Amino acid sequence: MAEAQAKMALGDKNLELPVLSGTVGPDVIDIRKLYGQTGAFTYDPGFTSTASCESGLTYIDGDQGILLHRGYPIDQLAEQSSFMEVAYLLLNGELPTKAELEKFDSTITRHTMLHEQLATFYRGFRRDAHPMAIMCGVVGALSAFYHDSTDITDPHQRMVASHRLIAKMPTIAAMAYKYSVGQPFLYPDNSLSYTGNFLRMTFGVPAEDYVVDPVVEDAMDKIFILHADHEQNASTSTVRLAGSSGANPFACIAAGIACLWGPAHGGANEAALNMLREIGTPDRIPEYIARAKNKDDPFRLMGFGHRVYKNYDPRAKVMQKTANEVLDKLGVTDPIFDVARELEQIALRDDYFVSKKLYPNVDFYSGVILSAIGFPTTMFTVLFALARTTGWVAQWNEMISDPDQKIGRPRQLYTGPAQRDYVPLGKR
Ligand code: SDX
Repeated sequence: MAEAQAKMALGDKNLELPVLSGTVGPDVIDIRKLYGQTGAFTYDPGFTSTASCESGLTYIDGDQGILLHRGYPIDQLAEQSSFMEVAYLLLNGELPTKAELEKFDSTITRHTMLHEQLATFYRGFRRDAHPMAIMCGVVGALSAFYHDSTDITDPHQRMVASHRLIAKMPTIAAMAYKYSVGQPFLYPDNSLSYTGNFLRMTFGVPAEDYVVDPVVEDAMDKIFILHADHEQNASTSTVRLAGSSGANPFACIAAGIACLWGPAHGGANEAALNMLREIGTPDRIPEYIARAKNKDDPFRLMGFGHRVYKNYDPRAKVMQKTANEVLDKLGVTDPIFDVARELEQIALRDDYFVSKKLYPNVDFYSGVILSAIGFPTTMFTVLFALARTTGWVAQWNEMISDPDQKIGRPRQLYTGPAQRDYVPLGKR
């Protein structure tokens, strides 16, 4: 794959480093031999210029606002596919035939139940525990219940663990919500779709039948598709790094959930909706725009900006369209949707945002839809984690099958004290 060489001079050393090209996107300079040949490290906090791996799952062009899953554009998948089909595509590399999709869907459906003892696990939490804290704990505990799918050297066990994680996340998420509102857990209903089953477990009650609203089911399925995978983002990199040590898949996904919870990452959807509610009315937007631009104010416009997208996040476009559709079909008028659209218009005309190429990201509009469906803001990142589990699992499997894969162990630029001798207490 090496097509060219990058020439480099460092002190009295001159070296040539291979340049590798992918299918599309930036070339990479292969620096694996740099330290051995020069004794120097590269320095890249935040990994803004670093490719951590080779992957065939998702391609992002941040300048063009392009997002492809196994080559298929996200807007086409959101409009024409289903979350189960996208999950199959990410895991297997190709769109399934009808028979393959039915078999995959049936396999996932039959893994949706949780070990009954886990219901007791939930009861150890306070009722007001944040659902993300519950999800971190419960997913981390799964290896204690599904020990028969933790041997990562066994492809069959890796597949079973992958299916279990994708299948059980809706059940775990719904149970976290039910626990927080003091309602009984509902068991999965295998006659429903993946997304319909999740909606019933979340909003259904034993006292009456729950009828899945197709408008809500379609919007939720689209939201899951839009959150399925996103190249080597912080939480995916966390899953890969945890997996590189040979940790079991349940522990790796729990690590990814913990990382996703941060407000700079997946936690931004909850923070964005809380921000829109705090702004409240369009006339208060200029005050918050000014705060976002003020270097001395830590406030950031949540749901805006992205490490990779320096153009409109293609997922945000689909999300805004879906928000319009859902609110119209549900007959919901939510003033914060007007605030969101007005805020976007003002920000995209403001030099600060234009010059820094800050556009709405996937988290800017998702909360408007989730709120209209009836989710509390504390559930927003849980839903992100539910959907992203499919991407995390696909990336984890890809990493384990990668012949170049080894334990991730970055180095550092050391700026601490040079060696010095210990001073006994009596002499300090
Ligand atoms: C997700 O990586 C992924 O793909 C993530 C994700 C996925 O699907 O996995 O897409 C999901 O995490 C989306 C991002 C959600 N986060 C937010 O909406 C939080 C608000 N956004 C920012 O915190 C920020 O934009 C980040 C964290 C998303 C990106 O940060 P970067 O790439 O490190 O950029 P930066 O912080 O260096 O910002 C560049 C400049 C800075 O100004 P200067 O220091 O150059 O003067 O832009 C400013 C920042 O202060 N800036 C913002 C801003 N985002 C960046 N200023 C105001 N409001 C913002 N939202």
